[in-house]
Amino acid sequence: MSKALWGGRFTQSMNEQVANFNQSIEVDQRLFYHDMNGNIAHVNMLQNKNIISKDDAELIINGLNAIVQDYEAGTVDFKKEYEDIHLNIEKLLIEKIGPVGGKMHTARSRNDQVATDMHLYAREQTETIIQSINELQHVLITLSKKYLSVIMPGYTHMQRAQPILFSHHIMTYFWMLNRDKERFNDCLKRVNVSPLGSGALAGTTFPIDQQFTAHALGFDSVYPNSIDAVSDRDYILDLMHNINVLMMHLSRFSEEIILWCSEEFKFITLSDAYTTGSSIMPQKKNPDMAELVRGKSGTVAGNYMGLLMTLKGLPLAYNKDLQEDKQSFFNSVDTVIQSVQIFTGMIESMEVNTEHLIETTKSDYSNATELADYFVTLNIPFREAHEITGKLVLYAIDNDILLKDIPLSHYKTVVPKINDDIYEKLDPAYAVNRRTNVNGTSINSVSLQIEKAETYIQKE
Ligand code: ARG
Repeated sequence: MSKALWGGRFTQSMNEQVANFNQSIEVDQRLFYHDMNGNIAHVNMLQNKNIISKDDAELIINGLNAIVQDYEAGTVDFKKEYEDIHLNIEKLLIEKIGPVGGKMHTARSRNDQVATDMHLYAREQTETIIQSINELQHVLITLSKKYLSVIMPGYTHMQRAQPILFSHHIMTYFWMLNRDKERFNDCLKRVNVSPLGSGALAGTTFPIDQQFTAHALGFDSVYPNSIDAVSDRDYILDLMHNINVLMMHLSRFSEEIILWCSEEFKFITLSDAYTTGSSIMPQKKNPDMAELVRGKSGTVAGNYMGLLMTLKGLPLAYNKDLQEDKQSFFNSVDTVIQSVQIFTGMIESMEVNTEHLIETTKSDYSNATELADYFVTLNIPFREAHEITGKLVLYAIDNDILLKDIPLSHYKTVVPKINDDIYEKLDPAYAVNRRTNVNGTSINSVSLQIEKAETYIQKE
């Protein structure tokens, strides 16, 4: 086993199992480009401040660029014995350009280096998440416009409540996602802060320029406290919280998709491309993608809790425990991006069984509120109107008919003032379109809602 880059004060080499336990290269190699960008910014700053010579800086930068080329050609072999992405790159550099490569780590520690990489990675992934949310929102708007006037049953307690527009129901998810997008955008101000230059914990004796590297890496500011800079993982927790809320939203949506495509509901038909079959039951077409998203929302909740527990007992400043931030964060990021993207395709390709949806609202008692509201227009106090309507619903159930099938003569025995304009009011379309309040379910209100929603999505 070759000597570790930090091996000066050691006389024995590391136990093999320990080396394997200690390494993180299997996980953190995805930080390759972020580490490279950090290296290049740092070396440029060192040269700019005359901490290293122009010639040395040039040699180092050329060496780093050559490593990027090797990496892209697939000829770079990361080694577990060099622990992590940071030491692997430094080792590769020294192999390529000789001992001058060792100057790269002047005025820096792996503690501010890994923190920098993680901030860069978090920023990049946050932007991808925001973009993916935006695409899903776009699909929801398209779907809502396509089926703008289709009526479906609205539920409370999973019991038919009142007829609503399918588009109104779908747009609910748009606004959930919009809050998610806002939360991720808000996080960026804490993500986009530079820890570089904080050293191991205390700063550095070299005359570095932290604004220079912050600017080069696109950060908005520098951490005011070097100890905080290397110890802070709050921004990762923030992002993981946001990921959890987003996954929870997708999980709720998944639950509806799963119900809606069942034989019992038949509201939608999922595309073959987004479903799976059964190894035994030839008739099956299962909504596995929605189930996986629902399931994975549990996994990312566990990831968040895992990192929170890792952090809660840590004294300042850097502790190796912090290496554990990666696995859970990377898994959560991968999961949420895939989930949003797969969801987008699943929604885009599904069919809405409009005829069936409309029929369901015509064959239930979800127009009972219309009847009560109608009695109110006859100057009956709402509480009494509710009681009378309840009795009428009971009468209809007992006689196995719907409210619209109750004869006028019977209505008149209960409320003499009633006349036959009651029947048009029992039509679900009438019920829906009377809800003209600003956030209500009428076609007009939902059209205005969609117009408003469109101002929140970035156009390609
Ligand atoms: N691989 C380490 C991590 O992910 C890098 C920092 C190591 N620093 C140290 N002092 N051992 O946290």
